[in-house]
Amino acid sequence: MSAIVSVRDLEVAYGNLEVVKGVSLDVHQGEKIVIMGPSGSGKSTFLRSLIWLVKPRRGRIVIDGVEVKHDTVREVRKKVGFVFQSYNLFPHLKVIDNIVLPLVKVHGIPRDEAVERAREALQMVGLLEKANAYPLQLSGGQQQRVAIARALAIRPKILMLDEPTSALDPELVDEVLRVLEEIARGGTTMLIVTHEVDFAEDVADRVLFFEGGKIVEEGPPEILYNPRSERLRQFLRRLHRRTAF
Ligand SMILES: Nc1ncnc2c1ncn2[C@@H]1O[C@H](COP(=O)(O)OP(=O)(O)OP(=O)(O)O)[C@@H](O)[C@H]1O
Ligand SMILES: [Mg+2]
Repeated sequence: MSAIVSVRDLEVAYGNLEVVKGVSLDVHQGEKIVIMGPSGSGKSTFLRSLIWLVKPRRGRIVIDGVEVKHDTVREVRKKVGFVFQSYNLFPHLKVIDNIVLPLVKVHGIPRDEAVERAREALQMVGLLEKANAYPLQLSGGQQQRVAIARALAIRPKILMLDEPTSALDPELVDEVLRVLEEIARGGTTMLIVTHEVDFAEDVADRVLFFEGGKIVEEGPPEILYNPRSERLRQFLRRLHRRTAF
């Protein structure tokens, strides 16, 4: 198995605040990686820095054979679908146009093909019938599924999702997780920041536990039931206390 994402000695800082403190990681083609860790541990910053939404201070990133640099970052971003915690849809554009517009403007895809791809992506997330609705006419879960469709429509080699369900009401979480499970069954490589333990168990090939800007434990999803480090044990105890009611 070859690495589709390769990260070496990555360091990211905001001014004097060091947030990612030397992370190395190889993600293999088709692998599903779940990233967990306490708030402020650098999970979002790490994920964003892989495509230079935050520019790293040090380290080497290679994505699908291309080293991320000034003159390659645009090319690299075309290979990566990114879904944020808050879905960032344009409120004044219909659902379909939210997907078509970036395909045409950013990816240079002809409009006819873009529409076809957008419809296909909406079909995948079960929202084709909402193509002509406006985002505010949809539930939070539906809006997040549109955001996922938008990322899928670029036919990404790698899909990165940063807490895709954490802004949703509990009863809307499952519909989004089900869509992500379906996508995971395809071959797309996925990096997902989430604290959904059941989802991680079902989908992840590997779980990374971040703390203080470093990967402090990693392994198969079984580590969520049998953690080696006291830190992960504590984190999971707190997580289970929060979700058990
Ligand atoms: N744009 C920014 N400018 C300055 N500091 C930032 C910025 N974004 C994040 N930080 C800081 O960097 C640290 C790591 O933040 P980050 O968002 O990566 O953590 P996280 O693990 O994703 O947390 P959460 O679980 O709350 O989303 C925090 O101390 C945060 O305050
Ligand atoms: Mg975050």
